[in-house]
Amino acid sequence: MSVKLQTKRIKAKKDLKTSSKKFYIESYGCQMNFADSEVVASIISKEGYDSTRNLNDADLILLNTCSIREKAETTVRKRLESFNKLKRSNKHLKVGVLGCMAERLKSKFLEEEKIVDLVVGPDAYKDIPNLLEEINEGRNAVNVILSKEETYGDINPVRLSSNGVTAFVSITRGCDNMCTFCVVPFTRGRERSRDPKSILEEIQNLKDSNYKEITLLGQNVDSYLWYGGGLKKDFKKASSLQKKTSIDFAKLLKLVGEAFPEIRIRFSTSNPQDMNLDVIKTMASYANICNYIHLPVQSGSNSVLKEMNRQHTRKEYLELIKQIKNLIPNCGISHDMITGFPNETDEDHNQTLSLMKEVKYDFGYMFKYSERPGTFAAKKFEDNVDEEVKKVRLQEIIDLQQSHSKFRTKQYIGKTVEVLIEKESKKSNSHWAGRNEQNTVVVFPKKSHKIGDFVNVKINDCTSATLIGESID
Ligand code: 5AD
Ligand code: SF4
Repeated sequence: MSVKLQTKRIKAKKDLKTSSKKFYIESYGCQMNFADSEVVASIISKEGYDSTRNLNDADLILLNTCSIREKAETTVRKRLESFNKLKRSNKHLKVGVLGCMAERLKSKFLEEEKIVDLVVGPDAYKDIPNLLEEINEGRNAVNVILSKEETYGDINPVRLSSNGVTAFVSITRGCDNMCTFCVVPFTRGRERSRDPKSILEEIQNLKDSNYKEITLLGQNVDSYLWYGGGLKKDFKKASSLQKKTSIDFAKLLKLVGEAFPEIRIRFSTSNPQDMNLDVIKTMASYANICNYIHLPVQSGSNSVLKEMNRQHTRKEYLELIKQIKNLIPNCGISHDMITGFPNETDEDHNQTLSLMKEVKYDFGYMFKYSERPGTFAAKKFEDNVDEEVKKVRLQEIIDLQQSHSKFRTKQYIGKTVEVLIEKESKKSNSHWAGRNEQNTVVVFPKKSHKIGDFVNVKINDCTSATLIGESID
């Protein structure tokens, strides 16, 4: 081959490379969506798209959306509006919506938001290559089919804007709990679990890339059940061999804890009705499984819990907390709470405050009830707690939580905690920031350490959300 021809070929290759399309992806809502965006990035990269953090460079903009509260949906719609100018200046730009809003609204999304070209539900991401072909030929494309099997276990996620230290590993998809206020069972479908082999392989890959902490993710991790594939609800139809060799969450935790003693292991989210003693015992017996549980309760009132279909009473929840604290005295516990659920009275609200006082959570995520179309609560109950009352109640529980958080962080003063350094502190470039195993943020002056190091830090001060200390290594 002549030198000239060779250079020409190399140039053509280069042109192809520089002209490759770019995608920009933005995620909203829960950690599952952020993990899913990494699966989507992997699928799209194989189609020749490079990822970009600059909107102006993008040929394809994707929003991975959340439907959990009305406000989350409004945020997405406003964001879509902001792309109008971009689309006017770049006629080839395509805009896609993924995730829960895509599933909820389906093709209605195309009618309601003219800017949208592509709608893909959470179980249809593997169809994106076909859907891209459609939109690149000028047609709109929609796939919102929910699946009985899809777990994306065979896809190696592309870690987007990662700190290189902590990563999410999804282990279940969907939710069967049918809490009456929640849209998730409708947008993410029935519960199914991922093959433990592929979970272990993904963690091995992360370990090989120097990651130090993983979070096993699912809407309801304690309900994890692998019996060879299929929906959780079909487990009763499994063969006796499948039942005998099945792996539940406690067993999975054990497998991961044992296989990766040098990796910190977290999991989220737990639900009281599905968490059992085996899980707590497993946490207690492996030093690398972090002593921290996110255990949403949603309300402290039995009558509200019943109307929410939470499948546990206040007493059962408190009993579980007692068991956790007995077996793991230093376990950090956080919660989710909803205020202003239909028919919630002052007395119900007081029950919530009293439950919080009893547990004294390390921290919590608190929300005003937001009616979601299609849910049992939307169909059967009137959203009848006045907006002002919701607001006042929410502020009360936020204030109470703040005082409990301060109470908890104060307990660490004078103690030494192990911190995994994740990044530079936002407030000071001379400080590192990381978390202790209880998931509380710790900041301390930099010495010779680097991101990814485990460091012992003596705590000498705190706010309600942050521990402040000095490394002693
Ligand atoms: N309104 C308000 N909060 C909600 N959550 C779920 N659905 C709703 C709703 N309709 C909250 C719950 C859940 C968290 C992820 O979001 O507290 O645990
Ligand atoms: Fe929604 Fe309840 Fe499932 Fe959580 S457990 S995702 S709140 S239905």
